[in-house]
Amino acid sequence: MTPCDILIIGSGLAANTLALSLPTHLNIHILTKKARQDSSSQWAQGGVAAVQSPDDDFASHIRDTEIAGAGLCNPDTVRHVVEHGPAAMQWLMDQGVSFDRQADGFHLTREGGHSHRRILHAADASGHAIQETLSALIATRPNITVHENIIALDLITGTQLGNGTSRVYGAYALDTRSGHVQTCPAQSVVLATGGAGKAFLYTTNPDTATGDGIAMAWRAGCRVANMEFTQFHPTCLYHPHAKSFLISEAMRGEGAVLRLPDGTRFMPEFDERAELAPRDIVARAIDREMKRRGLDCVYLDITHKPARFIVEHFPNIYARCKELGIDITQDWIPVAPAAHYTCGGIMVDTHGCTDLEGLYAIGETSHTGLHGANRLASNSLLECVVYGRSAAEHIVAQAPIALPALPTWDESRVTDADEEIVIAHNWHELRRSMWDYVGIVRTDKRLARAAHRIRLLTDEIHEYYSNFRVTNDLIELRNLVCVADLIVRCAQMRKESRGLHTSNDYPDRLPEAKDSVLTP
Ligand code: FAD
Ligand code: SIN
Repeated sequence: MTPCDILIIGSGLAANTLALSLPTHLNIHILTKKARQDSSSQWAQGGVAAVQSPDDDFASHIRDTEIAGAGLCNPDTVRHVVEHGPAAMQWLMDQGVSFDRQADGFHLTREGGHSHRRILHAADASGHAIQETLSALIATRPNITVHENIIALDLITGTQLGNGTSRVYGAYALDTRSGHVQTCPAQSVVLATGGAGKAFLYTTNPDTATGDGIAMAWRAGCRVANMEFTQFHPTCLYHPHAKSFLISEAMRGEGAVLRLPDGTRFMPEFDERAELAPRDIVARAIDREMKRRGLDCVYLDITHKPARFIVEHFPNIYARCKELGIDITQDWIPVAPAAHYTCGGIMVDTHGCTDLEGLYAIGETSHTGLHGANRLASNSLLECVVYGRSAAEHIVAQAPIALPALPTWDESRVTDADEEIVIAHNWHELRRSMWDYVGIVRTDKRLARAAHRIRLLTDEIHEYYSNFRVTNDLIELRNLVCVADLIVRCAQMRKESRGLHTSNDYPDRLPEAKDSVLTP
């Protein structure tokens, strides 16, 4: 690949915002491992949180974010993101994104943990609306080239080149169609690779969410933090033919209630905010009821709302459920919690700068301090836009460097794999172990079991990686086992229950809130 000014890895909202915020004289390459649309951003439903209405204010959005974050949010980051929220939304609209309106302005929806209606949305397919608009604009920019089916596999640093710096000069990336590993030199490299929901057996995330950016940054020498805080979304559709389909929290925001199979509502017993308590509380309550009663799922009921209202507000969910034989205007929707969001990640400052010069991380792959121990609903898309724009400001202020010659990928000691089954087996074993032992409620014993299995899997995968030619699945599995290890290590460091991390062995919250920081 020819050298470029900015190499952006990923094509979600963080990547697209950054690419469109950089000046047009810069030569930008976007690498994305599948099609450009394959991302969590494209699947986002509820919308984007930002102060919009006259009866709302920054102090209230900040307070809601910090309450959900259970004392672990970085107050400077929260202020930075919330105060840049309205300008970020204006930027999206300036690019042509259209949010739902009503007679007196935007239709703002509500989700768990928000004390005000402040979520801008495009029905229940907000991510699709945003991403399609930004991608269409990117296609008109001659300075931006999108390379699909290219998976970045490792960063190239001064440490590897032995030049006495830890600066990042580019990345190696596999063209998954030709099987050829390319060297991609760049002045700045940006990881916008999303989260790691696929570390768990059940997830709302697309297949792309394998934590690649976190694993690459860790191997290159970046610190990561707070990986124990995997957010489980309370309401993933429970159906044998529905892989990873979310039922938006906005449905509870518009009045849907959770019921046991006999019709009993149970959330009021757990929290005075009932179905609109922050996600960690609702997911834990569902998990408890399911385990206590031996249930496979609970039910979400919005049938008391007029059918027209339901179809108008949730057309995408209505259509998908209808395909599966569930008419949400009349039937309760079977739901269960599933891994949804990675609150921790690569440590960055307010411009997305990582520990390594020349390397940025933005969006879900990063740890900015916004989410603390639990992300407030719809703050993630907001973070993608705010940090995409802040990173652009920092990148343009950097003086260009003379790029060194980068070595090509060395395949001299590997052959084609002989036993692909090893990958499929280890992939399943890892995700099953994470679900069983590192799920919504943890114990020291379960974490130790997970750690033991991860050690065995790491050795086996490392041996396989050293001997055989890389493939997409092998790259992802190597990253997933690395991220699983980081999650378990952070979980073992936290001797308390806080936000999304609940331990039966340490049920109380410690008086002082501390990040779990891992240094390579
Ligand atoms: P993503 O959008 O996930 O994009 C990551 C990109 O990186 C993808 O293109 C992927 O293919 C690519 N990639 C990954 N690894 C590599 C590699 N090694 N090489 C090349 N490319 C790579 N948040 C909200 O705020 N509001 C919502 O309403 C909302 N709804 C959601 C609904 C669902 C079903 C899901 C799953 C999430 C939702 N979230 C929501 C969370 C939010 O969508 C994500 O946190 C956010 O979109 C992440 O954006 P991103 O740009 O960081 O990553
Ligand atoms: C949803 O629509 O429930 C997802 C919102 C989010 O993850 O912020």
